[in-house]
Amino acid sequence: MTKRIQFSTHGGPEVLEYVDFIPHDPTLNEVQVENRAIGINFIDTYFRSGLYSPPSLPSGLGTEAAGVVIKVGANVRNVKVGDRVVYAQSMLGAYSEIHNVPEDKIAILPDAISFEQAAASFLKGLTVYYLLRQTYEIKSGELFLFHAAAGGVGLIACQWAKALGAKLIGTVSSEQKAALAQQAGAWATINYRTEDIVHRVLELTDEQKVSVVYDSVGKDTWETSLDCLKRRGLMVSFGNTSGPVTGVNLGILNQKGSLYVTRPSLFSYITNRTELAQASSELFSMVASGAIKVDVADKQKFALEDAQAAHRVLEGSQTSGSSLLIPGL
Ligand SMILES: NC(=O)c1ccc[n+]([C@@H]2O[C@H](COP(=O)([O-])OP(=O)(O)OC[C@H]3O[C@@H](n4cnc5c(N)ncnc54)[C@H](OP(=O)(O)O)[C@@H]3O)[C@@H](O)[C@H]2O)c1
Repeated sequence: MTKRIQFSTHGGPEVLEYVDFIPHDPTLNEVQVENRAIGINFIDTYFRSGLYSPPSLPSGLGTEAAGVVIKVGANVRNVKVGDRVVYAQSMLGAYSEIHNVPEDKIAILPDAISFEQAAASFLKGLTVYYLLRQTYEIKSGELFLFHAAAGGVGLIACQWAKALGAKLIGTVSSEQKAALAQQAGAWATINYRTEDIVHRVLELTDEQKVSVVYDSVGKDTWETSLDCLKRRGLMVSFGNTSGPVTGVNLGILNQKGSLYVTRPSLFSYITNRTELAQASSELFSMVASGAIKVDVADKQKFALEDAQAAHRVLEGSQTSGSSLLIPGL
């Protein structure tokens, strides 16, 4: 008998239950992983609240963890029992002691990267990889705007931007978060509680504005983000932290300067083994070299049974960087 987090109805963090669970044996192409560190991502709150739909209820939660392989299906070729692995795109259910994952979603973990570093950086780091390297290729010296710069995705983006020699302008809600984003490599920060974002972007760019905005906040920042873009700039709307952007009149893109918009997701950028191998090898080399650090503060490491508390602090904007669930903590 093992334990996992599940929910039977949508709602706030209180719907998360810590329950007994008997994992089935891995199917032909699955790998069974004993999770040592589990990544907590904002998307998990969307499935819990009902903004996104799980395939059925009751449902497990989470898609990311790092651990050790304890069983493999008969057709698995590239992973064996005892391997240290990480995954970010499993079926819902990674908030568990043991989870079955398709082989093609698994990456073998280099020795230089710990389980905690891996679970803190895989989903978020693969996201930063595709955002900065594929959705729009950020160039050395380029100025761009990135919201929630002190969050889990945000602190990795600050470090990746610095490694590229680019100038990330990051929005944050406090001076403490501003300091963290700057330490991580943000070129400048804007505290949106005390400063006007558009005004500061104009100042920081000599009135030029930016060619790309990465916006995971969604509803609250949609129009502000468009106002920070140059003529024919690209709005990358990649999250719903404050709620989804809905009911957009396309005319607004014309009015604000023939803008482009994309609404990308990791799950449509990394769709097969080759794409996963390419993205994870870039990410692993950044983490192993120390260019990207993902140390998680003790107060953001939660026992598996404390998933409710972990969601409360994440949704309450009380976290910076990544948070983890640790089975047996
Ligand atoms: N599309 C994709 O492929 C993809 C992949 C991964 C993540 N994402 C998105 O990226 C975003 C960041 O994910 P994460 O897991 O790293 O979370 P996170 O950034 O660590 O946490 C969310 C942060 O958003 C900010 N925020 C702004 N308005 C908020 C509001 N109304 N309520 C709560 N927080 C608010 C807070 O920072 P401040 O206190 O500084 O405002 C908060 O700390 C999420 O929207 C997620 O869905 C998208």
